[in-house]
This record gives sequence, structure tokens and C-alpha cells, in this order.
Amino acid sequence: MRILLLVHAFNSLSQRLFVELRRRGHQLSVEFDVNDALTCEAVELFQPHLVLAPFLKRAIPESVWRNHCCLVVHPGPPGDRGPSALDRAILEGRKEWGVTVLQANQVLDGGPIWASRSFQMREVTKSSLYRHEVTEAAVAAVLEAVEKWEAGDQRPVPQGRWPGLVVRERPLLRQEERAIHWQQDDTATVLRKIRSADGFPGVRDRLAGRELYLYDAHPAPGLSGPPGALLGRSGEFLCRATRDGAVWIGHLRDPLGANPFKLPTVQVLGEAALSLPELEGAPRRIRYQEADGVGYLHFAFYNGAMGTEACQALLAAYREACRRPTRVLVLLGGPDFWSNGMDLNRIEAAPSPADESWRNINAVDDLAEAILTTTDRITIAALQGNAGAGGVFLARAADRVWARPGVILNPHYKDMGNLYGSEYWTYLLPRHAGEAQARRIMEARLPMGVEEAQACGLVDERVEAPDFLAGVRERAARLAASPELASLLEAKRRERERDEAKRPLASYRTQELERMRLNFYGFDPSYHVARHHFVHKVPKARTPPTLALHRRLDWTKPGHGDEERRHG
Ligand code: COA
Repeated sequence: MRILLLVHAFNSLSQRLFVELRRRGHQLSVEFDVNDALTCEAVELFQPHLVLAPFLKRAIPESVWRNHCCLVVHPGPPGDRGPSALDRAILEGRKEWGVTVLQANQVLDGGPIWASRSFQMREVTKSSLYRHEVTEAAVAAVLEAVEKWEAGDQRPVPQGRWPGLVVRERPLLRQEERAIHWQQDDTATVLRKIRSADGFPGVRDRLAGRELYLYDAHPAPGLSGPPGALLGRSGEFLCRATRDGAVWIGHLRDPLGANPFKLPTVQVLGEAALSLPELEGAPRRIRYQEADGVGYLHFAFYNGAMGTEACQALLAAYREACRRPTRVLVLLGGPDFWSNGMDLNRIEAAPSPADESWRNINAVDDLAEAILTTTDRITIAALQGNAGAGGVFLARAADRVWARPGVILNPHYKDMGNLYGSEYWTYLLPRHAGEAQARRIMEARLPMGVEEAQACGLVDERVEAPDFLAGVRERAARLAASPELASLLEAKRRERERDEAKRPLASYRTQELERMRLNFYGFDPSYHVARHHFVHKVPKARTPPTLALHRRLDWTKPGHGDEERRHG
């Protein structure tokens, strides 16, 4: 079928559905919801059998839902209505929540139900729940709905006839409802409030005399003080007392500042933070563990963004891990992202974004080089979460890439203003995918699921275990104990020497960085413009033709009557 994804942005859930539906043989095209006229035009050009709206902020135009079956994904159980579904579920401390796929009609979230799924809540941020539980539930429910619709013999269930359904219509959550009352709120409440608004919109609060938005909050066990007081800082975190303890806050946004986007707390507060006492015990972004002869390096950078200092710290931790008497080293990234490459927010906020881009890419490259030249142990990148741009190639620098089945990779750079990219991708991608495939991947600029990534050599194994980390540990321990380990290491050493003799790694880096230098310092400002738009979240005014098939010059509008039964 032709399925049109109508989206506010091509976000992680939309990308995952795009990948899953294409894998099942459907033809997908994407249209950003810019205005009604463009949406109607997209429908007219693409003639979709189904319209799917996984992430929309406005109603679908009536002429579209009246003439086409439009499936809407609502991140709440049947009967729940309104734009802040997941935020409210976290705030209310729900233990179980759900996702519903409805057919759009004149009542927002009030249409008949095609499918739904429920899930257990975890005590994490809204965006983490969205990237894991909501996404898995939405994929299952959408696939069920699409199959039912395609079969043609089933109808959606009107809400009035859904067993046990109670309509709960709730408006947009306002900042007043999110506000933290430092004198009264205990730690659990403060954490719930901040997590329910992370990554968007954040919780508005007053800190050091300024109105700021809070993100990235963690408990601070053992610390306490007068409620609301700033107790101290540690690394990038600031510690603030609650009624019964304290929380660490890692990121802030100053909407009125020169850089009105998320940045590390200490960077936003400047002197007000630096004058606070240094404390112990802030969450560690980088952690090392060891078990059964295997080293595990966790690096949970906020949003997977790896700035210069983060890369340098990770390189130091990597080197330290390589001094341990282990034969296998697993690079685990964080629970939500493995890596999204350079930290574009910090680059944007730097006095010279070009200089900071240069420092950052060199720091990522140093890390990639260290991984590539490790010959005394097997390195494994184990992807619990998604990876994008340089993050994908940094993972591919390891000997093996293992992935959780639902992970999405974006192995391309060009969407960031034609950025050329580095991380030794010109060595790694052709080596694993072949020259022709490498070119196709870079040009297509599309998200990729694990099956496709496996087929083109970007992923080696899918770890299907219900608990991904347990599955990784079990496999890694088996590898470390394997009698073949010595011969694997020998083969790895020989291969590296052969490749080095053919063309030294340094030469790939030099060539990539020459192109990056032009991106950063050359006459064409596209990278700086694209980064500015990305960081400032400037809404897209049109859908790029890489996503909008129906807007490509070579698109031929499907003829009328080429298929029957289309309006479910
Ligand atoms: N630097 C800083 N922040 C980043 C980032 C980066 N490299 N990559 C992602 N983020 C942030 C986003 O701004 C967003 O922030 P929010 O919490 O305020 O919403 C959050 O991470 C999630 O990203 P989002 O784009 O919403 O996720 P997605 O799953 O829809 O898309 C990517 C994933 C990787 C396609 C997309 O984030 C992206 O293009 N990132 C930039 C990659 C890049 O060009 N890196 C530099 C070259 S190496």
C-alpha cells in the first residue's frame, strides 16, 4: 500500500514506523504538517491508501480525513484525550499506560479505535518512555491496525462501544500545573515534575534570580538542606534541596538568554554556579564495570550529544579500560541513545562555532582512532538506543556492532547542511557495506532499522533477549571465554596491518577533515545555518524530497482506479 506519514516532525517514532512499514513492503512517503494546503497537496500527489499520523500537533484537514482513512497514534489508553497524555501519566504517577490507534474524525482523539496496547511505566523521563515503551506499543498497535485495514473485513470500534472505556478529555498541561513548590514538594514529586516535561517543554522555575527551564534531573541520595536552597555543584550538575532530600539538575534552558536552548546547568548559570561549593555524588555520565573477563563502558550523554570534553573524558576512560586485564570491551552508550555525534548545542553556544566544531570533530576522531587501533582485545559496540550521524560510525569503529532489535540508525551527515562527516566513515562504510552501498546510504539520508543495517554490514548481530543488557552480558562473557578468542585477535591484528599498508588510517582522517574544514570555515555557510535551525528548533517550511517521494521530480502520480477498496 501507499502510506503517507503526516508528521509535525520526522521524530524517532515516525522513523521507526517508516522503517517497519517499509520492511513489510509498503511504499512510504512523508509530509511535514506545515499547513492545510500543503497537506492536501501531498495527499493529492501521493494518492495514499492510508494516512498515518504518529506525531501531529494539529488536526488533520477535514477534506483529508473524510476521503481517506487516517490513523492517528495517541500516546494514551482508549478514552484518554488531549495533547499532554504522557506528561500527565508521569505526573500522576500512573503504573500502567497505553497507546491507541484511532481513525481521525471531527472529534480530536475521539475517533473509532483500530488497536491499542498497554505497558508498565518506568521512573524515567518522558522522552525515554516515548523512545522505548510508547514506541514499541505504537508499532504493535499500528501494525495491527494496518493489517486489519488491509484485510478489509474489519471496522474500527466506535469509542462508545469499546469495553470499559471512560472518556477523559484533558487540556494542554500548563506551566502553572508543572510548577515545583520547593518548600512542599518531596524529591519524588520534584523528579516526577521534571521528568514529565523532559525533553519538552521543561519545567519553568526560578534559579539564581532567573527564570529558567529545568531538565535532566536525578535523585541526590544523602544530600539535603533548607528546601529550595542550592547546595552545591558537581561537574555539570547543580544540587538543589527538596523538602526531604535533594536533586541533581543537569541541563537548563534560558528562553531569554543569548543561547535559548538546552545547555549544561553550570554553563547556563555561570558565576552563580561556580561560586557554590563542590560536592560529591553527581550522576556519572561515564561508568566502567567489569564481569567475567569483560569490561563494560557506559556513556549516557544527554541526548547522545558528545561534546569535546565529553569525548576527551570518554577517551581517557576507554584508555583506562584498555589497561584492565580483559579480552573483551563492550561500549554500551546510554539507555536512550548510543551516540548522536558532536554536541551541536554546545557548538552553537561557543564563541566561535567553527573553532568548536573543529575541536569537537577532532575529539570524536581521536576516540574513533583509539577504538580502531585497539588490537589486544575485541571491542563491541552494543546499541541499547538509537545512533545518528557520527555516532553510527563511531559504533562501527568497534570490531562488532550488536543492537537491540528496535534501534534506529541514521548513518548519514548531509541533512546537517551538507556536512561531509568524519569518524573515519570513508574507511569504515565501504569496508563493511561495499562502495556502491556506501554511496547509496549516504545519498538516501534515510533512517535504517536493524535488519537493513545488518544486511549492509552496519550491524553484526541483533540481540533479541527480553533484557538487552543481560543478553549482551551473556554473549560477551561467552566470547571472552571462547577458545577461539586468540585466533580472532590474531586475525584482527593481521587485517588492521593489511588495511594500514593499503592506506593508512591517518590519510582517511586527513581527507575527511579537509572537507570538514570547508564545512566549518569555507564560503558555504550551509552547515552553520542548518545547525542553527536544528538547535533553535526552527520548524521546517517544506519536506525534503529524500522523505517526500511525492514531491520528487521523478514521481508519477498514481492513476485513478488502479486499485479498489480504499476507504476502509
Ligand atoms: N547535538 C545536540 N543535541 C542533539 C544532537 C546533537 N548531535 N542530536 C540530537 N540532539 C537532541 C535534539 O535536539 C533533541 O533535543 P530535545 O531533547 O530538546 O528535543 C534530542 O536530542 C532528540 O533528538 P531528535 O532529533 O528529536 O531525535 P530523533 O530521534 O527524532 O532524530 C537524529 C535523531 C540523530 C536523526 C537527529 O537528532 C539528528 O539529526 N541529530 C544531529 C546529528 C548530527 O548531525 N550530528 C553532528 C554530526 S556528527
